Amino acid sequence: MFHRDEPKNINDMFALSINEIQKTEFYDTLFDVDTSAVVDGKETFDNKLFYRYQATNYSFLEYIFKIYPFEKEDHIMDVGFGKGRVLFMASYLGCNKISGCEICEEYFRITKRNVDKYLCQTKSKTIFTLLHEDAQKVKIDRTVNKLFFFNPFHLKVYIKFFGHLMELLKQVQRKTTIFLFSPLPSTFLYLDKTTEFSLIEKIDINDNHALFAVYQN
Ligand SMILES: C[S@@+](CC[C@H](N)C(=O)[O-])C[C@H]1O[C@@H](n2cnc3c(N)ncnc32)[C@H](O)[C@@H]1O
Repeated sequence: MFHRDEPKNINDMFALSINEIQKTEFYDTLFDVDTSAVVDGKETFDNKLFYRYQATNYSFLEYIFKIYPFEKEDHIMDVGFGKGRVLFMASYLGCNKISGCEICEEYFRITKRNVDKYLCQTKSKTIFTLLHEDAQKVKIDRTVNKLFFFNPFHLKVYIKFFGHLMELLKQVQRKTTIFLFSPLPSTFLYLDKTTEFSLIEKIDINDNHALFAVYQN
């Protein structure tokens, strides 16, 4: 497993994010989208599971998509895309095929509108596929080879999703990268027990909480 030296802890990440407010304004304006905070304080409610929308920092997306650059055939899926920020940064930084699922209808509608505006503003040729679907049930496209998660899920959701992914990988056998932003310890325990995926990189905030992890098969 690889531990990066730079940035090596949360202070470095804060340094990276020091201009995050300006960066949000900059990219949202550049893309003609709105990916900022919670909509009217509403939260997604999935029976007992309860998750709030929060966008991944633009600074962080710049960082990981630079370290793991997109190649021509890449297809990234953001599982729980919220208002679509990860989708837009992936497109802007060179990913040609992008998809995602989102359980909350309101965020799904906002992101559809954001995608239309993004395409009009940037004249990008990226192909976006947005699904209003629960990650536990979503059909994963056979060409997806990168997956992004921002800590939204209870372990039971990951187990269902990764179960489907591993079934798919038995059929299509492709190199697949999983980016976990702010993952829960239970997610590590689960993925570490699989024989299919190995942890290749991790940035810790402290002993109990990781900021970021990357797994590959
Ligand atoms: C923390 S936000 C991350 C948004 C986006 N991925 C980003 O990084 O900017 C998590 C998102 O996952 C969605 N979500 C929660 N549970 C989900 C599920 N079971 N299936 C699909 N989406 C889900 C929430 O509605 C929320 O928009």
